[in-house]
Amino acid sequence: MRIGVYPGSFDPVTLGHLDIIERSSKIVDKLIVGVLNNNSKTPLFSATERVNMLKEVTSHIPNVEVQAFSGLLVDFAKKNDACIVVRGLRAITDFEYELQMSQTNRIISPDIDTIFFTTNLKYAYLSSSTVKEVAKFGGDISKFLPEKVISHMQEKFKEQ
Ligand code: PNS
Repeated sequence: MRIGVYPGSFDPVTLGHLDIIERSSKIVDKLIVGVLNNNSKTPLFSATERVNMLKEVTSHIPNVEVQAFSGLLVDFAKKNDACIVVRGLRAITDFEYELQMSQTNRIISPDIDTIFFTTNLKYAYLSSSTVKEVAKFGGDISKFLPEKVISHMQEKFKEQ
């Protein structure tokens, strides 16, 4: 069984992430979306909220699972018997960081390879950070996020 891991912060999951999940889930038997639970960052959504949102928006894809993880990505991948890490590449500006991360991961764990998906052109500009910025100032985020996530964002900003 070929198992892939798609790791990220997903704070929150965007239409760009969902596009990568839909496409990459077709080339593996099982895709595990790994939500980084990083204590040194203060995310807008808790790891549990991010996992639940991802579960909601991927419920139509039978071979996708969502889990939170902390620590090294390669350890998370090994624990789940995954041999592939999936990442999206939006533009050349992503490349240096992604290359460094994938090379580091391969040095630590030569059995795990990273596969890059070029982001759908429709979403090439999109990032969770810019969406949060737009939402913070009351802008329209409907073109950036899956519908179910928009209502979670609205609730979150009402709380704050
Ligand atoms: O969506 P993001 O924030 O760009 O995702 C970054 C992520 C989660 C893939 C990366 O920070 C990560 O893998 N963190 C886990 C710690 C780790 O394994 N670091 C070594 C790789 S250089």
